[in-house]
Amino acid sequence: MARIVVTRQIPDPGIELLTGAGELWVSPHDRALSVEELHDAVLGADAVVALLHDRIDDALFEAAGPQLRVVANVAVGYDNVDVPAATRRGVLITNTPGVLTDATADLTIALMLMVTRRLAEGERLIRARAPWRWNMFMMLGSGIQGKTLGIVGLGAIGQATARRARAFGMRIAYAQRSRASERVEAELGGARQMPLEELLATADVVSLHCPLTDQTRHLIDAKRLRSMKRTAFLVNTSRGPVIDEAALALALADGAIAGAALDVFEREPEVDKGLLALDNVVLVPHLGSATIETRGAMAELAARNVLAVLAGEPPPTPVNAAELRAGPGADGR
Ligand code: GLV
Repeated sequence: MARIVVTRQIPDPGIELLTGAGELWVSPHDRALSVEELHDAVLGADAVVALLHDRIDDALFEAAGPQLRVVANVAVGYDNVDVPAATRRGVLITNTPGVLTDATADLTIALMLMVTRRLAEGERLIRARAPWRWNMFMMLGSGIQGKTLGIVGLGAIGQATARRARAFGMRIAYAQRSRASERVEAELGGARQMPLEELLATADVVSLHCPLTDQTRHLIDAKRLRSMKRTAFLVNTSRGPVIDEAALALALADGAIAGAALDVFEREPEVDKGLLALDNVVLVPHLGSATIETRGAMAELAARNVLAVLAGEPPPTPVNAAELRAGPGADGR
C-alpha cells in the first residue's frame, strides 16, 4: 500500500480524495514542520503533498528513500522545490496552476485600490478612534483611470490582472522575455511589451507576477526602485524575494515612490521593521489564493496529481514531466 504524507492540513476535497488511496499521514501540527520533522515524516513515502513553506530538496529526497515518486506542491509557485534534484532522483513534481489565477488577480486589484486610495490608512484612522472631520482634502489618493499598469511577467495571473485593470480604464504595458501573442496584446487594449527599465520609468502602478528564480531574486532593487516615478505604486503578489525589502522600505520612507502593497515578504512570516513603521505601504499575509473555493480547488488538484502518479497515469499539472522523460542530464546539471 502506498504511503502518502501530507505535510500540513489541507482542505477536505484533497484529504477526501487521498483517503483510501493509501496509508495516509497528515501532519497534526498547526504549523510548518521543522526540517527534521519533515525528513522524519517523509521516510518511506511514495507521495508527498507539500506546502510552499516546505523545503523540498535533495536532503528531503534522500530522507524519503528511492520509492518516492511524486511531490505535489499545493501552490502554483515552486521556488521551494529543487526541481533539477527531483529530476535526477526520478521524482515527479506537480503544482497547482490555473485554479488560483482569478483569486490572485482579484487580490492584486484589491491591493492596488487599497494603496492608491489609501484605504488601509483610512481604516487605521477610524479604528484608532482619532477625531476626524471630512474635508475636500482629506486623505486624497490617486485615480487609476487612464494610468498605466506595468505588469512584470504576463503569465496567466499577470494577464488576469491586466484584464481586470482594463475594466478600470488602465493602459497595459508589460515586461517579460518573450512577446505575448497578438491576440493577448489586442485583448488587453494593445498592451505594449517594453524592457523592464522602460516599464519601471513609465508605469504608474507596477505589479509583479514573475516566478522567483535566481534571475528574479531582488529584481526590484534599490536602483530600480529609484528609477520608478515618484508618483508610482508597486504591488507584489508573486514572491517576496523578488523585491529587496530593505531597499523598498528606504524608497518608501524618502518618497522615491508613492506607495506599495505587498502580499508576500522576503522572510515570511517576518516583515521588515522599516515597512511596519510606514503608512504608505499595505501589508497582507500571503492571501493571494485565500478563498474557500480556491484553496479547496488547490487541495483537490494536488490530490489528483498524487492519485494519477500512484495509478501510473500522467498527472494533470506536472512541472518536470518532460525533463523526466528526457532522462538523466536533461536539465544540464
Ligand atoms: C501561492 O503563493 C502559490 O504559489 O500558489
